[in-house]
Amino acid sequence: MKIEPSKLTIKWMNYHEYKEQIQSFRQSIYVEEQGVAEGFVNPEEDSEALHLGAFYDGELVSSISAFFLDKKSPIGQQYGSASEWGRAVRYGMRMEAPSIRGKNLNGLLCAYLGKTIYEIIRPDRTFVLLIPQHQHLAKFYMNYWGKQFYKSMSEGDLLVCDGGEALLNQYLICRRTLYTLTRRTYSDVELPSLLTFLRENHRHDLVAAKKLAEENLYVAGVDLESELPRLSQQAAALFSLQSPIYDSVQKLPNSGRLLDIGSGAGVYLNLLSTHDKFKSFSIEGLEGSTELYLQAQKSFPAIGWHNGSAYQTHLESNYYDVLHCGFLFIHLTSPELAIEEMARLLKKQGLLYVVDVNDATFKGPKALSNVIKAHCDLYQGDRQIMTLLPEMARQNGLKLEQDFSVRVGVQSGDGVRELDVALNKESFLSMFDFVGQREEVSKDYWLAKQDAMASSLSMSINIQTFVFANR
Ligand SMILES: C[S@@+](CC[C@H](N)C(=O)[O-])C[C@H]1O[C@@H](n2cnc3c(N)ncnc32)[C@H](O)[C@@H]1O
Repeated sequence: MKIEPSKLTIKWMNYHEYKEQIQSFRQSIYVEEQGVAEGFVNPEEDSEALHLGAFYDGELVSSISAFFLDKKSPIGQQYGSASEWGRAVRYGMRMEAPSIRGKNLNGLLCAYLGKTIYEIIRPDRTFVLLIPQHQHLAKFYMNYWGKQFYKSMSEGDLLVCDGGEALLNQYLICRRTLYTLTRRTYSDVELPSLLTFLRENHRHDLVAAKKLAEENLYVAGVDLESELPRLSQQAAALFSLQSPIYDSVQKLPNSGRLLDIGSGAGVYLNLLSTHDKFKSFSIEGLEGSTELYLQAQKSFPAIGWHNGSAYQTHLESNYYDVLHCGFLFIHLTSPELAIEEMARLLKKQGLLYVVDVNDATFKGPKALSNVIKAHCDLYQGDRQIMTLLPEMARQNGLKLEQDFSVRVGVQSGDGVRELDVALNKESFLSMFDFVGQREEVSKDYWLAKQDAMASSLSMSINIQTFVFANR
């Protein structure tokens, strides 16, 4: 069967909906019940589970579920001590109608479930349990969810992904697989927001915002002492690029309250406060790193500073007229949680202004392009998030009003692309030196950079700006 994208819908289901769907699914098609640990739980009677289903022409054709286990469950008792148990998620009840086998639709569901559960719920460990007759499926699960730890038990096989590195690796595999599948086979399929589903189903307590309050990928990955002078220089250069864009924002009020989120040492926000459009605004900044927050406070005392997380700001709801985020989103693992928090802070019709680079727009020599892509696959933040942000914002009540793109690069004799800002090769390529700091791709990066320095090809990347309005 050839899958027509217009007939395919992916949906989250709660207990009642899933139970109803799965019963008619069982009646009509032979169900290969993969990954079910008989005797441990009764999956269909678990009212807390989350179910992700693919419907073709209105009929359920594939699904996968996530079950929340606590330390009282048989697995909890067998595995690990109660104190270190944490939030555990078991993936299971993977089902696929014979008519869609071989189309990787179930793979799409697995990858999306693994990615979104990590981003929105951030479990402490995940499990797959295989009854003895399904042991051959271990390979399938490892392909989608990582080569994690395998434990053979009398009841079957247990694949465990325990916190930290293992879970992060599982997340990165899911994200990479999802991007591959959505770029090729399933480019037109809309993936439903788990966050929206949890909100609408009164399950928002599962959301990881509080747990993520201490997470800051940016400061974890840089040496601030050497990074700060570069960041200040970059802030000044970026401000001159963005300045005309602020003049073109249509719905900007003349005055009000503006909050910048992820302000770093405050250099950019201080420049922004001098822009004509913002002169009558009361200006505040929020920064996650205490070190940077203290520095910003010391350098720019006229601005009101907060030390807090983009995921949980503890600031007043429905309070700000404008939110501004410069180069923050690429450093977030859970951008949708930040978007939800921003929608809470904004007044009705308030504006969210986001500017970020998008690595998916890089054009240039193949070797350099490949190593930038390899880095994207390794980095916990999403350096291509600008591609997804408009849809994510829409699902959280923010409407895209305007978008701008500035193409920065090196023009060569080939005259292939029009640039908005031409840089010399050295400056342009130094923008990517962070890639060389990742051990896994370091060698390839420095070689690719050397080749790019000698190349006569044009190279460029887009810095994108979105202006959203709160509905
Ligand atoms: C690349 S810097 C950008 C600084 C500034 N906006 C600019 O354009 O010059 C990203 C900033 O976001 C902050 N940040 C990263 N994750 C954060 C989070 N979850 N909550 C608050 N701030 C965060 C980092 O500490 C860092 O200062």
